[in-house]
Amino acid sequence: MAATRNSDFDSPFYQPADKFFPENHGTGLTFDDITLATMYSDILPRDTQLDTRLAKKLQLNIPVISSDMDTVTESRMAIAMALNGGLGLIHYNIPEREQLSEVSRVKNHVHGLIQEPIKVSPDQFIGDVLGMIEHKKFGFSTFPVVDDKGKLVGLLPGHVIKPRYAQRKVTEALQPRAQVQTINVKELGKDPISRADKFFTEHLGIHKLLVVDDKDKLYGLITLSDVERITQERRAQFKPARDERFRLICGAAVSATRNAFGELDRDRILNHVGGLVERGVDVIAVSTAHGHSKGVGDTVKVLRGAFKDLPIIAGNVTSASGVEYLADCGADAIKIGQGPGSICTTRIVAGVGIPQMTALYACSRAAKKKKVSLLSDGGITKSGDIVKALTLSKAVICGGIFAGCNEAPGDVIEISGKFYKQYRGMGSLAAMKAGSAARYGHEKNPAQKVAPEGVEALKEACGSVDRVLAQLIGGIQSGMGYLGAKNLEQLREKARYIRVTAAGMREAAPHDVVELKTGN
Ligand code: IMP
Repeated sequence: MAATRNSDFDSPFYQPADKFFPENHGTGLTFDDITLATMYSDILPRDTQLDTRLAKKLQLNIPVISSDMDTVTESRMAIAMALNGGLGLIHYNIPEREQLSEVSRVKNHVHGLIQEPIKVSPDQFIGDVLGMIEHKKFGFSTFPVVDDKGKLVGLLPGHVIKPRYAQRKVTEALQPRAQVQTINVKELGKDPISRADKFFTEHLGIHKLLVVDDKDKLYGLITLSDVERITQERRAQFKPARDERFRLICGAAVSATRNAFGELDRDRILNHVGGLVERGVDVIAVSTAHGHSKGVGDTVKVLRGAFKDLPIIAGNVTSASGVEYLADCGADAIKIGQGPGSICTTRIVAGVGIPQMTALYACSRAAKKKKVSLLSDGGITKSGDIVKALTLSKAVICGGIFAGCNEAPGDVIEISGKFYKQYRGMGSLAAMKAGSAARYGHEKNPAQKVAPEGVEALKEACGSVDRVLAQLIGGIQSGMGYLGAKNLEQLREKARYIRVTAAGMREAAPHDVVELKTGN
């Protein structure tokens, strides 16, 4: 019979984690220091499953999370991540009430519903509307008409928006309210897209569905083209990550906030997290540079005491004792990573931190004992790094990979014909001045001398999160196919490691060719 199990000849070379890492103890290893051996496989990459459970009440459909950084995750990024089956952690470098609104935006997001459609008022001239279309370069020309209280008055159809009618008022040209087809927001139910799809099938020739509330105020707009695109996307393998009420899931980060006397500000933390929970947040991340510390532990304890079922992530740590400590305090998932981040200078400034694969292994045994999940945070530059990280953790947290995406906060900057977006460490001076100093154990006081642990940088603009994630997911599935792993649990079981030398690393990348197209 053909051998489908790995031969004993392989075992001295390709070792399981419990043999490989202890044998390499004393040397910190990161992603590029190791490679994974292939195994017999009857699994096609496209058939692999990527769902991962991080806590009793927190499951993702893909094991990827966007970092709680002010140049990475606000509501737009969190929506895109959840729509792809992952999770976004809204950063805390904004006033608390703004963080609450960001979470609300994600939780209230109805896929396909444009919640703030461009409207016109009855008193405007058609000429003004023409000017607006030209100035804003709108690709559409049908607009809902609302009065100054937001009540729907009618619909301005595209065929009347012509220069010859420039001097006429919108009110003369609109299709009156009584003739406009609408739907009450309550009728959209749990699955607005299916409801809208049915509406468009029933109403021949109508391409826009206006959504109103009980007072006939305009609530939003659904277009036929969006419904058709989303219906197609639904056939995609990885479903959006949703809560039990069908809302997208969303996380928010908090710090171990202190009061004026330097003590943990329990009331403020509880109040703020209470607000986040009220808005439907699915997970809280107590996110700091040094998680194996009293402040972080006490914050987790306070939250666990007040919110029994709330999934809590805490970190960052790089030791088994750090994991045990945070698990004992009540965390469900622990962030691992000190110093691997692409914008991070912690190892240079503080001389502290552990290469990521060794850190993950050291933590993984404690995680197993304490039944908590590990999240590999930072240092991911390619999909192969994610595959390696997932052999020892339940999900990865990425900053730099998403910072150039359209959905990351901030504008695109053009430099010498190339397009970039700003990406900065939360421990950079600029970010700390904006509020993140507590994460690094400093006061928010620009006059005070503090050592930044991050840099301000640029990332090349790289299009939509959908595109970037498609590449990453494809890579993860390939890796799983090579290991014969049909799900992430099997990936963790089947991983066999070997060290790589500098020559091996050179061999791993394209070499001795003139590259015409890069691989990404
Ligand atoms: P990246 O994906 O390699 O860019 O790393 C992102 C991760 O770096 C974040 O999720 C944080 O854990 C970490 N990080 C963010 N800002 C800083 C910083 O200023 N110094 C050190 N680490 C940081």
